Amino acid sequence: MNLDFDGKVVAVTGAAMGFGRAIARSFAARGAEVYATDIDAKGLAGTADGTTIRTAIADLTDRAAVAAWIASVEAGAGRAIDILVNNAGGMMGQHHRPVEDVPDADWDAIMALNVDASFATIRAAAPGMKRAGNGRIINISSGAAFRPSRTRIQAYCTAKHAVLGLTRQMAMELGPFGITVNSVAPGLVLTDADKLQGWQAQTEERRTAALSGIALGRLGEAQDIADATMFFASDLAKFVSGQLLPVNGGSF
Ligand SMILES: NC(=O)c1ccc[n+]([C@@H]2O[C@H](COP(=O)([O-])OP(=O)(O)OC[C@H]3O[C@@H](n4cnc5c(N)ncnc54)[C@H](O)[C@@H]3O)[C@@H](O)[C@H]2O)c1
Repeated sequence: MNLDFDGKVVAVTGAAMGFGRAIARSFAARGAEVYATDIDAKGLAGTADGTTIRTAIADLTDRAAVAAWIASVEAGAGRAIDILVNNAGGMMGQHHRPVEDVPDADWDAIMALNVDASFATIRAAAPGMKRAGNGRIINISSGAAFRPSRTRIQAYCTAKHAVLGLTRQMAMELGPFGITVNSVAPGLVLTDADKLQGWQAQTEERRTAALSGIALGRLGEAQDIADATMFFASDLAKFVSGQLLPVNGGSF
C-alpha cells in the first residue's frame, strides 16, 4: 500500500525499540516530520540513525515531563501534532505472582506507563488538535485489552483494558473536532531479548501449539504493528474511530 504522510507532524512514544521504532521509522520513510521519545537514550539514537527523526528523552511516568515533551514537539513543528501514537507500555520486567503477593509499587508502575502516560499525552496534545480541527490518536494496546493476558500479570491486563476504555471515550469526546482515536492490539512479537528468551524457554510442543492457534501460523513482526498504525493514521481510516484492531495473524 502506498501511503504518504508528507509534512505530517507525528509524535511517537516508546520509540527506542520494537514497535515504537518501526512506527517512527515507517512514518519518517513516508515523509512525516517525526518526533520520538523514550527513556532509553541509546535505543532512541538507534531509531533516529540515518533518518530525520527528532528525539527527546523523557520519563513518561512523569506527567510534567510528558506535557513538556508535547509542548516541545508543537514548538519545534510550529503547529499542532497531526498524529499521536501512544506506544510506550509493557510489563516493565515483571512476571506473574499470585494477586496477594503483588506489591503496590508493581501495580502502580504498570498502570503509570500503560495508562496514565497515554492520558497525559492526549491531555496535552488535544487542545492543539482541536484548534487545528484535525488529528489522529492511536493507542497501542494488546490482546490483553479484550481477554485475560497470557502473562497473567493482573495490572497489565487491567491497564490494557483501560487503554481501550480511554480510546473509546476519547473518540466520543474528540470526534466533533475532527479527531479520530483508535487502538492497535498486537499479538505476541519478539521485540526484545526478554521476550525471545521466554519464547525459546518454552518446549517445542508449546511453541507449536501457540503457532497453531494463529491462523497465519507465525508470530507477528514489529512492521505488522507499524502498518496497522499507519492505516489508522491515513485517509483510508478517516471515518474509523473508537475501534480496536487486533493485529495478531488471526488468533482467537
Ligand atoms: N511485543 C509484544 O508482544 C506486545 C504484544 C502486545 C502489546 N504490546 C505493547 O506494545 C507496546 C510496545 O511494545 P514493545 O514490545 O515494542 O516494547 P516494550 O513494551 O518492551 O517497550 C516499549 C518502550 O517503552 C519504553 N519505556 C519503558 N518505560 C518508559 C518510561 N518510563 N518512559 C518512557 N519510555 C519508557 C522502553 O524503553 C521501550 O523502548 C507496549 O505498549 C506493549 O505493551 C507488545
